[in-house]
Amino acid sequence: MKVFHNKSELSQHLEAFKATSSTIGFVPTMGALHKGHLSLVEKALSENDIVVVSIFVNPTQFDNKDDLEKYPRTLKADVGLLKHTGNNKVIVYAPAVEDIYGGNVQSQSFEFGGLENEMEGAFRDGHFDGVGTIVKRLFEIVKPNNAYFGEKDYQQLQIINKLVELYQIPVEVIGCPIHREKDGLAMSSRNTRLTEQHRKAAPFIFKTLKSAKTKFGTKSAEKVTEWVKTQFSKQPLLELEYFIIADTETLKPVKRKSTKKTYRAFIAVYAGDTRLIDNIALN
Ligand code: PAJ
Repeated sequence: MKVFHNKSELSQHLEAFKATSSTIGFVPTMGALHKGHLSLVEKALSENDIVVVSIFVNPTQFDNKDDLEKYPRTLKADVGLLKHTGNNKVIVYAPAVEDIYGGNVQSQSFEFGGLENEMEGAFRDGHFDGVGTIVKRLFEIVKPNNAYFGEKDYQQLQIINKLVELYQIPVEVIGCPIHREKDGLAMSSRNTRLTEQHRKAAPFIFKTLKSAKTKFGTKSAEKVTEWVKTQFSKQPLLELEYFIIADTETLKPVKRKSTKKTYRAFIAVYAGDTRLIDNIALN
C-alpha cells in the first residue's frame, strides 16, 4: 500500500489512474481510525477502482488549542488498519502542515447559505471555515469522482454539499450512516480520550436521543428539548452543551412541526474535557 506525504507526488501517481478512466473514491479523515472511518473506506472500495484516504489533523478547524494538541495521532496503526481493509486498492495521503498550507496556516472565509452559523458553527468559532478550506484543497489535489462523509458529522456533510455546489466541484458527495459501539456510543477518535468513568456514562447520549425521537412523535420540539435538558441535569459526568431539533435541509431549529419537512436532533456533550457530538433522524 502506497503512503504519500507530498501532494505533487500523489497527484502524479493519480494522473496515471485517471488516464485509464479509473474512478477514484476519496475518504478525508484526521486519522486515529476506527470502524466508523473504515465503514466509509469499505463503501468507497465497493464503488471505485481505487480509494484515497487522507490522514491530516487540520489545524485551522480547531477553535481550541488544547483539543488540537491532544488530538490522537496514530499514523502507523492507521496505515496497518487500511492495509488490512483495502490492501493495494487504498492509497494514503498523510501530509505535513506545510504541504497543505505552506507558511500560511489560515482559513479561507466561506458563506454556506447560513448552514455555517448553526450548532457546531455557533459553538466552535471558525470551525467550518477550516473544514471548507481543507476539504476544498484536498478535492483540488485528489480530484476524486466520489467522496465519502459520515452522518456522524451531519452538519459537515451538508456544508460539503454546499461547498461542491458553490464552487461547482465535479465530485459526487456520498453520506454514510453513523457507526456505533455495541452500547450505542457513536464511534469517534475522541472516545479514546475518555476516562473509564466517562466512557461508562457516554452511552446515555444515544439512549437519550432515541427517547427524544419517540417523544417527538407526540410532543413539540420545545417540550422534547426541555425533557432532554432535565435528563442531563441529573447526569453528574455529562455536561450538555446543546440539544437542538433542526430542519434537515436548513439546519435551523424547528419552531413549528410540518409534515412536509424532515427533522434531526443534534447534540453536543462534554464528558470531562472531551467533547462528543451525535445526531439522530426523527422522521
Ligand atoms: P474525522 O473526524 O476523522 O472524520 C472523518 C470522516 O469519518 C468524516 O466524514 C466523519 O463524519 C466520518 N466518521 C467519523 N466517525 C464516524 C462514525 N462513527 N460513523 C460514520 N462515520 C464517521 O470529519 C473530519 O475528520 C474532518 O473534519 C475532515 C472532513 C477530515 C476535514 O478535516
